[in-house]
Amino acid sequence: MLFRSIWLVLPVLSASLAYAAQKEEYIFTAPLDGDVITAGHTAVISWNSTASSSALVSFYLETDKDEGNVLYTIATSIENTGAITWRAPTNVSEGDDFVISLIPEADEDHPYYSESFSISNSTSSTTYYPTEGQKYDAGSTMVLTWKVDDNVQYVSIYLMQGNNIHALQNISTVATAIENTGNIGYIIPSGTAMGTNYYFEIVSVNDTDTVVYSQKFTVISEVTSAETSAAAASAASASSLAAKTISSAISSTSAVSSSALSSATSSSGGSSSTTSSSATASSSTGAAVEVSPKGAASILAFFWMILNLL
Ligand SMILES: *[C@@H]1O[C@H](CO)[C@@H](O)[C@H](O)[C@H]1NC(C)=O
Ligand SMILES: *[C@@H]1O[C@H](CO)[C@@H](O)[C@H](O)[C@H]1NC(C)=O
Ligand SMILES: *[C@@H]1O[C@H](CO)[C@@H](O)[C@H](O)[C@H]1NC(C)=O
Ligand SMILES: *[C@@H]1O[C@H](CO)[C@@H](O)[C@H](O)[C@H]1NC(C)=O
Ligand SMILES: *[C@@H]1O[C@H](CO)[C@@H](O)[C@H](O)[C@H]1NC(C)=O
Repeated sequence: MLFRSIWLVLPVLSASLAYAAQKEEYIFTAPLDGDVITAGHTAVISWNSTASSSALVSFYLETDKDEGNVLYTIATSIENTGAITWRAPTNVSEGDDFVISLIPEADEDHPYYSESFSISNSTSSTTYYPTEGQKYDAGSTMVLTWKVDDNVQYVSIYLMQGNNIHALQNISTVATAIENTGNIGYIIPSGTAMGTNYYFEIVSVNDTDTVVYSQKFTVISEVTSAETSAAAASAASASSLAAKTISSAISSTSAVSSSALSSATSSSGGSSSTTSSSATASSSTGAAVEVSPKGAASILAFFWMILNLL
């Protein structure tokens, strides 16, 4: 009798697993509706996904009037890391109806679209990021912008921490000897301690006395509860891999061009297999956790029914 009831339960279990597999999807978290991206500047594309972090995806710039008509290829066949940086092209006409499409390699006929945003040629922006007190999660991708001194050709950038701007502690190297373009994409290292007193220090390569500081900003730890710490730890190793990938692309090419980014990402594919598989494990655990309340309830209902029949 017990054996027979196990056979009755199995189809329910596999049905809920199949349901979990079909539910894979992608949701853009940036850009959002109404965002303005400056042509030639670095911006973040981020997305949530239930698919494995080693799944491959491609990104294209399109307009929402004319979906499927690619204006610009942002990145092709990169890993599903949840965030990348890109440089909006300068050769598209100004408009407020741009969208980014995400094409999963596993299902190319079903693209996902971002909300619509503008690309502007305006360079008169006087807001620099991070702004005072801005909060970022450790492990998240952000864009740093700074005022360009035309006399400075190359800069090195460091993540610093401290209460006194004259006595900051060196936390991490963001980039060394890159062109002084005024903007760069960066992934805050996932192990960065929570704190409200972080700065970026931008140092002229030729004259280390010429220094620009960002506003003071806050880093929030990404681990929020003991229950999720295991998942967070493997997610953390995946994002620190992405951080290395992006910062190596940045320091070697001095520009976060999408091609440098995607080639760096794909060339790291082989060596990163351990990290990717732990990230895969964590995201499939995530999916399983999502489904299990329903799955468990139906299994319990089944046992209850069978017990009643006995
Ligand atoms: C994306 O994921 C984050 C963290 O899990 C969550 O806070 C946010 O609401 C999600 N956003 C969307 C649009 O699903
Ligand atoms: C813009 O330039 C890129 C190369 O930098 C090219 O691939 C793309 O097709 C161009 N787009 C338009 C709309 O001219
Ligand atoms: C930016 O300006 C250039 C010429 O200066 C023009 O060809 C291009 O269409 C403009 N692009 C945007 C996004 O405004
Ligand atoms: C931060 O540390 C690196 C490596 O130890 C060093 O090269 C760099 O000069 C330091 N930066 C600052 C602003 O102290
Ligand atoms: C800065 O250094 C680079 C190479 O180290 C050199 O090519 C450049 O001319 C220097 N610029 C200035 C303003 O000294």
